[in-house]
Amino acid sequence: MLYKKVKKVEEEISVIGVGCWNFGGDWDSTDDKKSIAIIHKAIDLGVNFFDVAPVYGWGRSEKVLGEALKQSNLREKVLIASKGGLLWNDTHETTNDLSRNSLLKEIDQTLVRLQTDYIDIYQMHWPDPKVPLEETAEALEEIKKAGKIRYVGLSNFSQDDVEKMMKLTEVHCQQSLYNMLERNPTGYHNIPLDYKTEKEVLPNIKKYGQVFLPYSPLFQGLLAGKFHSGITFSEKDIRNANPKLVGPQFELYFEAGEKLKKLADEYGKPMNEIALNWLRQKPEVTCIIGGASTIQQLEQNIHCLTWDIDDEMMKKIGQIIAPFEEM
Ligand SMILES: NC(=O)c1ccc[n+]([C@@H]2O[C@H](COP(=O)([O-])OP(=O)(O)OC[C@H]3O[C@@H](n4cnc5c(N)ncnc54)[C@H](OP(=O)(O)O)[C@@H]3O)[C@@H](O)[C@H]2O)c1
Repeated sequence: MLYKKVKKVEEEISVIGVGCWNFGGDWDSTDDKKSIAIIHKAIDLGVNFFDVAPVYGWGRSEKVLGEALKQSNLREKVLIASKGGLLWNDTHETTNDLSRNSLLKEIDQTLVRLQTDYIDIYQMHWPDPKVPLEETAEALEEIKKAGKIRYVGLSNFSQDDVEKMMKLTEVHCQQSLYNMLERNPTGYHNIPLDYKTEKEVLPNIKKYGQVFLPYSPLFQGLLAGKFHSGITFSEKDIRNANPKLVGPQFELYFEAGEKLKKLADEYGKPMNEIALNWLRQKPEVTCIIGGASTIQQLEQNIHCLTWDIDDEMMKKIGQIIAPFEEM
């Protein structure tokens, strides 16, 4: 494993982490035993960073991660980055809520599900324009003082709001959508994004020495080269909510994926490794929080650490992905 160290966080962080969303069953049917085995294998292979959120599987992903760490007494060996501020009701409709009262309640529920006394990085999942940043910052300070969180992260926030928040409380980490074909994306699923990852977020990460977590590093599977033209997902798969993976936009992204796959074949390298190394080789990227549905996928992803993309290959990738710079 390779580790990166950033100014704002004490520990070295593994460049490959694990995103735990799919352990909640929102993608397809999933088995907790299998998810726990993936988590244990990841730690065996040197992974020390797990990204999760209450909303993933309506609490299930946090419970699975908590159970895996408890079973083998592994809590102290890893950093947990969970989130707050995205609530759901009985029919699984979600709402953003970054109010003080809600966050104080939510953090306790997260700690119970994860069977731990503290979260390493507590990230505000999405902005909530209804609540002043001052109120959210105050709540985070209160939660930190109580020893329930160590560091603060912001996910999907505009850089204006990040900088405003930094005047109110220390911000140690940012998380944004970022992969070879979504560099300055204007939307995620059907949610408009108020930030440009490559143009706005990355320069600030460098300037402030924050942890940066690119989410959907494999474009939910497309950059692992596993999709085919006309692919459909099972009825319960959350990828049906991604307009770039279903409907008319898909062919555009798929075509670029095919060009990258051809390039990967020319170099005799797997496409998932190209997608991950493209991220890893950027100094601003701290930890790639990709999802893995099997131990085999996890091992295939960690295998990217055995080589680097050279200048010639980087140039060819640049030509393929150039049209996607602003999409
Ligand atoms: N902050 C936010 O708003 C936000 C939003 C989205 C995600 N996230 C975080 O980011 C994490 C990762 O993002 P993501 O889950 O959207 O997408 P991703 O990491 O880009 O894609 C994960 C999927 O790619 C496929 N895959 C992974 N490795 C593979 C391999 N070696 N070969 C073939 N296929 C492979 C698997 O699909 P199959 O299951 O089909 O095999 C896996 O479920 C999440 O778990 C979550 O922690 C955060």
